[in-house]
Amino acid sequence: MSLDVPSRALGAPKRVPGVKGVSAPSLPTRTTRPRTAAPAAVSRSDFLALLGTAAAWAVAGRAKRVEASDERLLTSKSFSCGSLDLYNPKYLGGGVQGEVYQANLPGTGTVAVKVSRRNDDYAKSTFAREERVVKLLNNAKVPGIERCVASGPVTTEDGERQGLVMLPCLPSTARVLSIKTGCGSPRIFEWAEDRRMETMMKTAVRVLEAGVAGVDVQVLQVPNSNEQAWIDFTEAAILRGEKGSFTVEAPAMICPEYKSRYKSAKDAVVGFATEVYLLVPPSSRQSAAQALVTELEEVSQAKKRGIGQTFQDVWGKLPWRCDATTQEKLEAACTRAAGLLV
Ligand SMILES: Nc1ncnc2c1ncn2[C@@H]1O[C@H](COP(=O)(O)OP(=O)(O)O)[C@@H](O)[C@H]1O
Ligand SMILES: [Mg+2]
Repeated sequence: MSLDVPSRALGAPKRVPGVKGVSAPSLPTRTTRPRTAAPAAVSRSDFLALLGTAAAWAVAGRAKRVEASDERLLTSKSFSCGSLDLYNPKYLGGGVQGEVYQANLPGTGTVAVKVSRRNDDYAKSTFAREERVVKLLNNAKVPGIERCVASGPVTTEDGERQGLVMLPCLPSTARVLSIKTGCGSPRIFEWAEDRRMETMMKTAVRVLEAGVAGVDVQVLQVPNSNEQAWIDFTEAAILRGEKGSFTVEAPAMICPEYKSRYKSAKDAVVGFATEVYLLVPPSSRQSAAQALVTELEEVSQAKKRGIGQTFQDVWGKLPWRCDATTQEKLEAACTRAAGLLV
C-alpha cells in the first residue's frame, strides 16, 4: 500500500524541559475558538494519509519513555486537595502537565492524585478542562476511563498547585500505551487478548458516542491482570452540535503539533480513530474488528443516542484486515450505528 504522508499530521512529540523524554508542554502558543464545520463524510483515504505519519511515531516514540526527575512536588506524609485530606503520597508517574501520586483517602481507599507542575493560568485552565472532559465522559457512563472524584488546590513543597483526585488508581506496574510511548505492547496474555480488545473498543466507541475525540490517547494497562484505564484527556476535542453542523471545542491553548486535529469534527474523529487503531497490535486486529461489531450493534440499540452518532461509521474505514465476513458485519454495524439505515 502506498501512503501519502502529510508531515506532522497527528502531532509529533517534543521534549520537555526538566523531564527527560517527555512530550513538551510546547507551550500553548495561541488560543483558538471553536470552529464550525460541516460533517463531511469520512473516507478511507483520510486514514491512509494519517496512518503513515502515526505509524512512524509508533516506532520512533518507543525510545521516548518518561524518566521523571528526582525532585518531587509532594514529599510529606499528608496533604490536601480542595477539602480532602490525603495521606502517604507515592509517586506513580509524570507527564507534561503533572505528577501523579497514589494516596490514601480515608473512607475511599487508594486514589490517584494528579498535581500540576505549575500554577499559572495555563495549568489552571488545563486542569479545569481535563476535569470537564472526564466528567462529561463519566456522566455519559463511558466504561474504562478514569473517574474524577474531586478537584482543588494542593499545597506542595513548592507552593500551591492544581489537583485532580481520580479513580481507579492502577498499580505502579501499569504501563501507558500511546502512539508516543509504544502501542502494541504489552500484549500480556494471549488468552486474554480478545477480552482486552473488547474492553478497549467498548471504551473507544463510547468515548466517540459521548462526543469526545481523544487527542494523544493514553491507555494505562496493567501487565499481569489486563486491567486498563484511559487517562489524560487534556488535549481531547469536544464535539458539539448535530447532523449537518458540528463545532469542535479545542483546549484554550493548542500545542502546535495538534493544530490540525481541531480543524473540523471530521479531522478530530479521524485522528482519534487512527490513534485507537494504532493501539491495536496487528495480530489483534481481527479481535478488535469483532469487538467493534458487538459494540456498534449495542450502541445502535440505545434509545437515546449521543452527539458522536453521526461519526460511528469511522471504525469501518480503518484497514483492520479482518476476514471478509467480519468486514461485512463491521460495515453493516457502522452504517446502523451512524444512523444511515432506518
Ligand atoms: N489513575 C492512575 N493510576 C496509576 N497511575 C496513573 C494514573 N493516572 C496517571 N498515572 C501515571 O501518571 C502518569 C502521568 O499522568 P497523565 O495524566 O498522563 O499526566 P500528563 O497530563 O502530565 O501527561 C501516567 O503516565 C501514569 O504513569
Ligand atoms: Mg499524559
